[in-house]
Amino acid sequence: MSLSKNNRSEQAAIKRNNVIIGVLGARLDHGGLGGKRWRRWRPNISMLLQQSIEISEFILIYHKDEEELAVLTIKDMAALSPQTKVQSYLVDYDDPWDFEQVYSQLHDFASKQNFDAEKNNYLVHITTGTHVVQICLYLLTEANYIPGQLLQTSPSAEGKGKPVGKYQIIDLDLSRYDLIASRFEHESRQAIAYLKGGIETRNKDFNTLIKQLEQVSIRSTEPILLTGATGVGKSRLARLIFDLKKQRCKMRGKLVEVNCATLRGDNAMSAIFGHIKGAYTGAASDRKGLLLEANHGLLFLDEIGELGLDEQAMLLRAIEDKTFMPFGSDKESHSNFQLIAGTNRNLFKQVEKGEFREDLLARINLWSYEMPSLKARIEDLAPNIEHELELFTRKASYKVAFNKGAKEKYLTFAHSEDALWKANFRDLNSSITRMATLASGGRITEDVVDTEIRRLSCDWHCYQPASAERDNQDLLNKILGNEAVEQIDLFERLQLADVVRLCQKSKSLAEAGRKLFNISREAKANSNDSHRLRIYLRKYGLEFRELN
Ligand SMILES: Nc1ncnc2c1ncn2[C@@H]1O[C@H](COP(=O)(O)OP(=O)(O)OP(=O)(O)O)[C@@H](O)[C@H]1O
Ligand SMILES: [Mg+2]
Repeated sequence: MSLSKNNRSEQAAIKRNNVIIGVLGARLDHGGLGGKRWRRWRPNISMLLQQSIEISEFILIYHKDEEELAVLTIKDMAALSPQTKVQSYLVDYDDPWDFEQVYSQLHDFASKQNFDAEKNNYLVHITTGTHVVQICLYLLTEANYIPGQLLQTSPSAEGKGKPVGKYQIIDLDLSRYDLIASRFEHESRQAIAYLKGGIETRNKDFNTLIKQLEQVSIRSTEPILLTGATGVGKSRLARLIFDLKKQRCKMRGKLVEVNCATLRGDNAMSAIFGHIKGAYTGAASDRKGLLLEANHGLLFLDEIGELGLDEQAMLLRAIEDKTFMPFGSDKESHSNFQLIAGTNRNLFKQVEKGEFREDLLARINLWSYEMPSLKARIEDLAPNIEHELELFTRKASYKVAFNKGAKEKYLTFAHSEDALWKANFRDLNSSITRMATLASGGRITEDVVDTEIRRLSCDWHCYQPASAERDNQDLLNKILGNEAVEQIDLFERLQLADVVRLCQKSKSLAEAGRKLFNISREAKANSNDSHRLRIYLRKYGLEFRELN
């Protein structure tokens, strides 16, 4: 903390009524009982001798052991400055070096005052009292329990024989100090550059997002929600936020990261919340769970939209109360973690469909950031290409660069309508990796670029059905397991995937059955759609309730 004199705060001090809050110093304020005391420097008295500041009110805090000195000091104050209203406040801690006792009594003092910071300029005098008293006064002022500035006094240079001495006002609003403010700005600029991963960013929206996120990362421990399409950098940003918090000592635990799409059934509960031995068949020993691992650290739940409804309910409680029940346990566990959630799904739509809890969304939607796609921040493409080349160079230990014509060709394509950048930075990373690997002698030629452009165009335009097929495969793999899916004909897979999707969107077996067999039911007098669907699903060992 700078103790330098601050002119601006002194000027401010002169405009409003100055009220000093000071603790009677058993030693420093003791100038003896006789006439000699008027010639001695007594810190609290000295403030009433200052020409440059008028004191309207003085609140003198004194310990019960110093009653006699307090009476004399108040009398002297009245004699020196009749216009100052002097009030006294009694404290009676057993030990003035006991932090707990002193803090609680001074906190009581602060709570009982009707501070009016509009009218009064409070100056908290920290020269007298034990160091513990001074620390407590500082803490109470810093935390704004006492809405004031600190006041420090010292004897004048000519020696202790002069009663007036000097004073300094220390404003704890650091932003008022130019030197400190510029240091903060510098730190903030560094943090912003860090969150950008050291890559130059020209896109206005992304810059605004990162600027706010820097403040939130440093100041808040509340949940952060990162949304945006696949590959826009949500996971990467979550890791950078964690690193930044660590660097700034805002977090002492570790980063625990999980993709919720990998968590299903009993395993989801126990992976997140832990379990006790025997909680379910196969639970051979206690399991800590991710929440406990993330204690005092950061839990990054990627694809949070994939989390089951039961887990969502437990998670909400864990965020709000910091407590949760490990699977199979009847004892609560505690974990103080910060949550960052990532998703490429629209959670509001999921709420509408009953797939995501509204209360959980409300809780994690406090600091939410929609990350722009690569196409939406296409002006950042060129610096990102350079960044990818540097990464490749570092890994491969040899430098790779574009030939001039090749670079122009690639950039023209990359900025064109045809370049969809569907998987965003993931596509860019793969594309540069391919070209850099194929570059003979470290030069990316036009031929290499031509091949790459053909490849990307095909990925984005030729293989639509293949990706739908992949989606089906992923869906069925999740439900049946890879091995079982491999035993099913493609013809059946396509049908089954659509049936499963429809079931997942339906509230009951009957509703799904009605939708699926609508036409054939119309033709029959008697129908049992539910039964037909149940039989169909059972052919694959599936039950409707398991799909939802
Ligand atoms: N701004 C960026 N600049 C350069 N590379 C980036 C940027 N953002 C992400 N990447 C890179 O792109 C890849 C994908 O990023 P990341 O895994 O963070 O995306 P994501 O949004 O979490 O995707 P998903 O939704 O699929 O989980 C990573 O290799 C990452 O390092
Ligand atoms: Mg991710």
